[in-house]
Amino acid sequence: RPLEVDTGDVSLGEYEHYMLKEIYEQPESIRNAMRGRLDDQDATAVFGGLNLTPQQLRSVERIILTGCGTSWHSALVGEYLIEELARIPVSVEYASELRYRNPPIENNTLVFGITQSGETADTLAALRETKRKGHRTLAICNVVASSIAQAADGGVYLHAGPEIGVASTKAYTSQCCVLAMLALYFGRTRHMSYEAGQGFIEELRRLPAAVQQALTCDQQVRDVAKKYCDATTVLYLGRQYNFPTALEGALKLKEISYIHAEGYPAAEMKHGPIALVDKQTPSVFIVPRGTTHDKVMANMEEVKARGGPIIAVASHDDPHIDAIADDVIRVPQVPGFLQPIVTVVPLQLLSYHIALLRGCDVDKPRNLAKSVTVE
Ligand code: G6P
Repeated sequence: RPLEVDTGDVSLGEYEHYMLKEIYEQPESIRNAMRGRLDDQDATAVFGGLNLTPQQLRSVERIILTGCGTSWHSALVGEYLIEELARIPVSVEYASELRYRNPPIENNTLVFGITQSGETADTLAALRETKRKGHRTLAICNVVASSIAQAADGGVYLHAGPEIGVASTKAYTSQCCVLAMLALYFGRTRHMSYEAGQGFIEELRRLPAAVQQALTCDQQVRDVAKKYCDATTVLYLGRQYNFPTALEGALKLKEISYIHAEGYPAAEMKHGPIALVDKQTPSVFIVPRGTTHDKVMANMEEVKARGGPIIAVASHDDPHIDAIADDVIRVPQVPGFLQPIVTVVPLQLLSYHIALLRGCDVDKPRNLAKSVTVE
């Protein structure tokens, strides 16, 4: 039974829709996710509710991140973060698969259920099943005292405030932020130096301002939305940390605009999706400066050569992008591991504006529920 979202006393204020309000709340919700959790003295993160001893945490040899929908995308971001910064192997599982797949799970595996609502039936069942087998289960959750928060051995709350729009926005960026802090935390119990930890904290502190700046692209995104609102298929392409962003951008468009969209790792494009490219099929490239920037630019050239319109989400100071892309949405530059939190913002806005132009019910898209409490 899909739960009716209770808007309670959450007012829209100056905004036309909850989704837009929640997109704009992100600098604040990210700040709230970090509040009291950054420890300058030890250059690490602190979490009050993990309920695990330092020894137990130190003995973790594998992490499983599980969830559904947008929360599954943040799990992918978490995989990249934790593997790179803490060097712990991570597996990402759809909760609906994990609960029945019965994979072998080694001792010293920690299982995180990631969920905005804390009520998603598959995520709850996946956590219960792994807990029953004796593994430690933790929740990364927004709704306090929700079923998943209660079922887990411990966890981290997002403190994002109520999310009413069915399409998840601020909960996603808060999940990514919590996962970044967990990567810092696990990294600092292992090989990450004090100095590297300090640098990481500094970058985290800059995030709310970077997201605030990313929001200033709104007018430009509206113009792009006008150009492409009649598309029937849109491709989203990004690499490494921006691959989950491609998936999330495509999901947002599908959810609220009812336009077919696919997210792919940019380099996989040539193994199939490029066959879809024509003059009517725009590709959104998420291509901020970073290690794979030039490779993604090369993919972009391939799309251009086939006449496909290109929308690029790029760094504010990228000098080469205008020559290739038809439309460029510029975002502030942050280190690769924090890019998903910034680059997703214009994609949230793009889906919002396209949905509006198509007359869709942004906050309550057809056939979807905020919280899916059936299998
Ligand atoms: C539903 C919502 C999605 C959400 C997913 C997981 O499908 O429409 O926006 O990402 O459930 O929800 P959760 O509350 O577990 O994050």
